[in-house]
Amino acid sequence: MEPAQRPNRSTFWSRRRILGLICLVVAVYFLWYPSSDTKWVIVTLPDAGIYQCDPNETAKNVAIIGAGSGGASAAYYIDRFKHPCNSVNITVYERSSYVGGRSTTVDVYGDPAEPVELGASIFVEVNRNLVSAAREFNLATQGFKPKIKDLPNTLGVYDGKDWVFMGSESGWWTAAKILWKYGLAPIRTQQLMKKTVGAFLQMYEEPHFPFQDLSQTAYDLGLTEATAATGEEFLQANGIQGLFGTDIIQASTRVNYAQNIDKIHGLESMVCMATDGAMSIQGGNWQIFDGMLKASRANVLLNTSVSNVYRRSDGSYAVNALSSSYPTGIDLAIYDTVVLAAPLQFAKLNFTPAPVNPPPEIPYVNLHVTLFTSPRKLNPQAFNLEGAVPTTILTTTPKTNANPPPFYSISTLRTLTNPTTYQREYLYKIFSPAPVSPSWLHSILTPLHASTHPLATQDRQDISWIYEKVWQSYPYLSPRITFEDVQLDEEGKVWYTSGIESFISTMETSSLMGMNVARLITDGWKREGKESEKQKLQKAEGGIEAATGQVPMTGKAPGEEL
Ligand SMILES: Cc1cc2nc3c(=O)[nH]c(=O)nc-3n(C[C@H](O)[C@H](O)[C@H](O)COP(=O)(O)OP(=O)(O)OC[C@H]3O[C@@H](n4cnc5c(N)ncnc54)[C@H](O)[C@@H]3O)c2cc1C
Ligand SMILES: *[C@@H]1O[C@H](CO)[C@@H](O)[C@H](O)[C@H]1NC(C)=O
Ligand SMILES: *[C@@H]1O[C@H](CO)[C@@H](O)[C@H](O)[C@H]1NC(C)=O
Ligand SMILES: *[C@@H]1O[C@H](CO)[C@@H](O)[C@H](O)[C@H]1NC(C)=O
Repeated sequence: MEPAQRPNRSTFWSRRRILGLICLVVAVYFLWYPSSDTKWVIVTLPDAGIYQCDPNETAKNVAIIGAGSGGASAAYYIDRFKHPCNSVNITVYERSSYVGGRSTTVDVYGDPAEPVELGASIFVEVNRNLVSAAREFNLATQGFKPKIKDLPNTLGVYDGKDWVFMGSESGWWTAAKILWKYGLAPIRTQQLMKKTVGAFLQMYEEPHFPFQDLSQTAYDLGLTEATAATGEEFLQANGIQGLFGTDIIQASTRVNYAQNIDKIHGLESMVCMATDGAMSIQGGNWQIFDGMLKASRANVLLNTSVSNVYRRSDGSYAVNALSSSYPTGIDLAIYDTVVLAAPLQFAKLNFTPAPVNPPPEIPYVNLHVTLFTSPRKLNPQAFNLEGAVPTTILTTTPKTNANPPPFYSISTLRTLTNPTTYQREYLYKIFSPAPVSPSWLHSILTPLHASTHPLATQDRQDISWIYEKVWQSYPYLSPRITFEDVQLDEEGKVWYTSGIESFISTMETSSLMGMNVARLITDGWKREGKESEKQKLQKAEGGIEAATGQVPMTGKAPGEEL
């Protein structure tokens, strides 16, 4: 061997080693070690403007339909953004018996001390509305990494036959070996994700906030490039090649959105990789939305389903609801402004007149969530493994044309004590495209010794508690460049938050849209206020007739005054 080659060879190896370590650190970091130290973000209140209050000013009556993230945020931010002169009376209608919508918990074993998320479970540190609300309401957050005494924390990606990724706290070298094959892709993905998230965060700031037209704002921020392409195309367009997309990013699009990377759009694929500082609220994320509703002093009507919203001749809106809480079962009230904070296609309500551009029906994923407890661990044989099964199983599509696994994810969440048997049990959560059969559930759990336990007993003891729910969880996020209207009528009195879901479907984005609508509504009131102020000044300065077309602050429609 010639001496001259030696330095070359050694730099080659050390560079590769450094590169490998960087890949490892980056990939393991954002897949598995989201930082728990949260950077708090303060939302600054917009300038309130200066004008004298009219003591005879009547309260604004606002109806919000839906007490999920979108509706609760609309209420909260209307109260924060409104001019101090405006007194606002907010009524929130909620069809179900609880606050939170798709963010809700159920009680394991029916025990209120053991809640577990049934819907949205995770938000991240760049989710500034949720993070600042959690702080304001003193809600404790927790990381999303399971902590189970007798099981090491591991995350694996399974394709139904092979494990394409296996990461564990101790087995970092395994991760390094597997990540070796992805080269620069993890770093490039991280950079692309940061850039995309950076553009998205401008939606919270002037001049983009508030936005009347989501399609235009997405375009202005360069985000249409990401929504117009599939995840796969978007990665390719940004120089990210190889198996990282299907092995790792797709594992994330499947667990988060039940969609593959060749179908889901590029923006939502990037959202799936933005996992820094992943957290949830201890006891349930719904408490954020409950806190927002309480802070807004809104009147929340549970078990109350809005069936009709119609415009009256004076420009106000009548809201008709069915409720088990009313003696007559029917509630009718009049509002200045109405916010629909639920997907129109599931709200089952009529608008008269119909919206200017009615949001079209879009396909939603039917996601099956199965929560259950068992004293058994997962059976390695059921997953082609010899050692322990990872506590978080994600999935991807197989490289051959075999079938992918019949589930998107299986998570071992925590251990608890069964209140009847006092046995220690595991709490599992499965996301799947179809219901899971009892026999399949038994097949993934380690069997008891047949000699000591007859089959019948075994079946009964396998699963001690089970809860199944089918959600219309999120839209199929196919590539698109236009998004539904924020304002549904011509006068700016009927608003819609759920159009943002085909852009990004998360608790935070629903909150962002609730905040956006709140700002558009309160800005409208401020304009009305300034107009009526001007009218009064003109009158005072020599009885000049109020110019036509100006809307007084008491909120009558212009046509009505004649
Ligand atoms: C299983 C699952 C996992 C998820 N995981 C995450 C996650 O980890 N992180 C994340 O950020 N997001 C996640 N999501 C998505 C997230 O839950 C939603 O994007 C978000 O909660 C939507 O909030 P929203 O207020 O817009 O709608 P919703 O939460 O659906 O609220 C709408 C409310 O309106 C009510 N309503 C509808 N029609 C009427 C009517 N006519 N009258 C009165 N009330 C009505 C409904 O009952 C509902 O409570 C997940 C969703 C599911 C289902
Ligand atoms: C408020 O209403 C009262 C009674 O109608 C009236 O006397 C008063 O001038 C009004 N105040 C203002 C600021 O318009
Ligand atoms: C607030 O709204 C509720 C429900 O519509 C109504 O009963 C109440 O009278 C309103 N209060 C005010 C001060 O307008
Ligand atoms: C709503 O309905 C549920 C089930 O019918 C009931 O248990 C609950 O008490 C009701 N809540 C309210 C506020 O009326």
